[in-house]
Amino acid sequence: MSLVLGIESSCDETAAALVASDRRILAHRLAGQEDAHGPYGGVVPEIAARAHVEAIPGLVEGTLAEAGIGLESVDAIAATAGPGLIGGVMVGLAAAKGLALAAGKPLVAVNHLEGHALSPTLTEPGLAFPYLLLLVSGGHCQLLFVEGLGRYRRLATTIDDAAGEAFDKTAKLLGLGFPGGPAVERAARSGEAAAVPLPRPLLGSPEPHFSFAGLKSAVLRAVESGRHSTADIAASFQRAVVECLVDRTARALERVPEARALVVAGGVAANAGVRSALMALAGARGLPFVAPPLWLCTDNAAMIAWAGVLRFDCGLTDPLDTPARARWPLDPGADRVRGAGVKA
Ligand code: KG4
Ligand code: ZN
Repeated sequence: MSLVLGIESSCDETAAALVASDRRILAHRLAGQEDAHGPYGGVVPEIAARAHVEAIPGLVEGTLAEAGIGLESVDAIAATAGPGLIGGVMVGLAAAKGLALAAGKPLVAVNHLEGHALSPTLTEPGLAFPYLLLLVSGGHCQLLFVEGLGRYRRLATTIDDAAGEAFDKTAKLLGLGFPGGPAVERAARSGEAAAVPLPRPLLGSPEPHFSFAGLKSAVLRAVESGRHSTADIAASFQRAVVECLVDRTARALERVPEARALVVAGGVAANAGVRSALMALAGARGLPFVAPPLWLCTDNAAMIAWAGVLRFDCGLTDPLDTPARARWPLDPGADRVRGAGVKA
C-alpha cells in the first residue's frame, strides 16, 4: 500500500493531493486563477507561472495537514512534468523535486494527459480496460483508447482549437466573460438551437479528428450580422459542438470494437448537453458511460497523485534531472495531424 503526494501546475489551476493505492483520497486542495486571468479573456502564461509559485507551498502544507501526516509518511512525490504551459510545469516539477530531495523520497514525473486518462479508474473501481476516453477541455481535445497503464492509443486530436477553447472564444465574442463554457451554457438555455445556421467542421469525415476554428469564425460572422440574439447564437453554437463531439466519438468507437466503456473527462464534460448526448451514444452502442465527478474531470492533483501511485506501484520512478516538457504526446506513434499537437 503506497501513499503519493501529487502536484499539478500545468495550466491555470494549482493543486496538491494525497492519494493511496486503495483509492483513498486523503486530502486534495486546489487554487484557481480565474480572477487573475479574467481581464484578459484567457490564460496568460507568465501570470499563471507566478501564481503557481505563490500557491504551491500553502497547498502542499494544507494537504498534508488535512491528512494529518508529515512528508516522511509519503512514499513518493508525483508532479505533472508536461505537457502544458512550460513556466507553470517547471514551477510544480521543481517544487516536487525539492520536496523529494529534502524528504529523501522518489520522484514520479507524470504526464498530465495520463493523469486525465487514468482519472476515471480512481473513482470507478469497476471500470475495466480497455476504454475509449473523450478528453475535452480548454487545452485538450482528444480521443484516447486506454488499454492499461502506459498503453494509450491516440485515435484523434484537434487540427486547430480544443472544444473548451471554442467555448471560451465564443463567450468572448458574445461578451459573456471567462471561463466561457459555463457562461455559454447558461446563455444557451433561453436560446433556440436551430436559429443560427452554423457549420459542423469535419462532421462525417473518415478520421475521427476534430476542428473548431471554422465554427468560431461563423460565430463571429453571426455576431457581426446583428441579426441574432446572444442566447440563439450560444444555443446554436453549443448544438454544433455537441453534434461534432458525438459524431467524432461514434467514428472512433467503430475503430475500437473491443472498448468496454465510453468515458468523458475534461472541463467540457461539465456541459449537460455534452454529457447527455454522449450518454445516449454509449447507450445506443450498449456500452456503459462513465463521467467522473466534475472536480476530477477538470485539472486537479488527485489524478496526478493517482497516476503517481499506479506508476510507483509498478516501480516506475524518475531521476531528479527529469525535464519539464511543454509537449509530451501520450502516444508518440500517433499520426501527425496538420496543425495539431499545438495543445498536447
Ligand atoms: O479541464 P479544464 O478545467 O482545464 C483545462 O483546460 O485543462 O477545462 C476548462 C475548459 C474551459 O475551456 C471551459 O470553458 C470549459 O472547460 N468548460 C465548459 C463548461 N465548463 C467548463 N465548456 C462547456 N460547458 C461547460 N459547462
Ligand atoms: Zn487538463
